[in-house]
Amino acid sequence: MPTEAPLRAPLFQALASETRSSRRVTLSFNGEPLSVPAGISVAAALLLSGIERFRATPVSESPRAPYCMMGVCFECLVTIDGVPNRQSCLIDVAEGMQVRSQEGARDLPFDMPVVATLEVQP
Ligand code: FES
Repeated sequence: MPTEAPLRAPLFQALASETRSSRRVTLSFNGEPLSVPAGISVAAALLLSGIERFRATPVSESPRAPYCMMGVCFECLVTIDGVPNRQSCLIDVAEGMQVRSQEGARDLPFDMPVVATLEVQP
């Protein structure tokens, strides 16, 4: 006899105090405009907008989304206004912010210095 999958509660819900504010800002995620409550983190805003994939891992390209919401796990990394590796759970939304998912490893923003080899004296 087939069994139906149990209904799952949403993984993320806003507190009433988070959505009571009438002030909103517009940002974009991967080019799509989103109107979100002002004064919340980018991670909360994206989750409230139904976005569940924030980045892909560099090796397996597995999807990732925020986990701790307090700056510990680094699963919420996105590119904000062209700057990669931003922890979206620690950054408040701002009008006109351009957020992009982070796909794989980021590019280094600078040329790596040549590290001189050290010779160990016996
Ligand atoms: S969700 Fe864990 S560091 Fe942002």
